[in-house]
Amino acid sequence: MAAKIIDGEKISARLRRGIASEVESLRESSGVTPGLAAVLVGNDPASEIYVERKTRACGEVGIRSEEVRLGAETTEGELLSVIERLNADPEVHGILVQLPLPQGINETAVLGAVSPLKDVDGFHPENMGMLMEGNPRFISCTPYGIMEIIDHLGIDVLGKDIVVIGRSNIVGKPVAAMLLNRDATVTVCHLCTKNLAAFTRGAEILIVAIGCSEFIKGDMIREGAVVIDVGINRDGNGRITGDVDFESASKVCSRITPVPGGVGPMTITMLLSNTLQAARLAVEGKGKG
Ligand code: GUN
Repeated sequence: MAAKIIDGEKISARLRRGIASEVESLRESSGVTPGLAAVLVGNDPASEIYVERKTRACGEVGIRSEEVRLGAETTEGELLSVIERLNADPEVHGILVQLPLPQGINETAVLGAVSPLKDVDGFHPENMGMLMEGNPRFISCTPYGIMEIIDHLGIDVLGKDIVVIGRSNIVGKPVAAMLLNRDATVTVCHLCTKNLAAFTRGAEILIVAIGCSEFIKGDMIREGAVVIDVGINRDGNGRITGDVDFESASKVCSRITPVPGGVGPMTITMLLSNTLQAARLAVEGKGKG
C-alpha cells in the first residue's frame, strides 16, 4: 500500500482563509482587532524561527502581533513583570511564552502567571483542567491541529484504537484527553514503555510525539493505519526528519503526515484560531477579571 500524504499546508491554508474573514468580521462588528504578544527569552535559534513564523502568520490573517524579546540573562522576576503588563494590556488578547525557557527560570511559575483568558497556548493549569473535564476553553495548538487533521480526513474516532507515543504536557497528554473526550480508546506510550511495537501494531491511528528521529519504522505500524508524525528533528546531515521513518511507514499505512509540511503548519494555524477566540472572549466581556 502506498500511503496518501496528508497536506498540512493545504488544510492550514483553508483554515487561515476562514480565520482571516472572521478576524475582519469581528473588527467590523466590534472595532476590535485581535492582538497577540509573543514573548521570547534568550536566543535559542529554533525558538527565534518559530516566533518569527507565528508573528508573520498573524499579519497574514489581520491579527496584530508584537514580539517581546528578552535577553538570556532575564530573571524570572523580570519575565513575570512583563507578563503582568501584557495581562493588563487591553490590546493584547493572546499571550504566548515561547518554550523552552532558559535554565533558572521556573516554567511552571511563568506559564501559571499568564492570564488564563489570554492563554492561547492552552498551557495554564486552569485551561489544562478544563480540557480534562471535557469543557475546553483554549486547547494547546499542536493537539488542536492534530484533531483538525483527523476531522479533515472525516474520521470518527469513537471506539477507535488510538496509540499516542509521548506523554508531554504540550502534545501527548492534551491530545490523549481530546481523543478520550470523543470516546476513542486511547493508549499513551512513551520511551519507557516495554515492547512498544506490541502497542503500535494495534493502532488504527498512531500519533507520535517523542522527539527521536525516525524512531517508528514501518514494521511497527498496522496495515492501513493513519499515522500522525509530530516530531521535528535534524539528522546527522542537517536534514529535517520526523519521529517516523517516512520511507518504510508510507509503504504500510494508509495516510501519513510528512515532516515538514504536516502537523507543523497546523500548530501555527491553531494559534491564530485561539487568538481570534481570545479576542471574542474579550469582546463578549468574559475577558474581564
Ligand atoms: N515550544 C515548542 N512548542 C511550543 C508551543 O506550542 N508553544 C510554545 N509557547 N512554545 C513551544
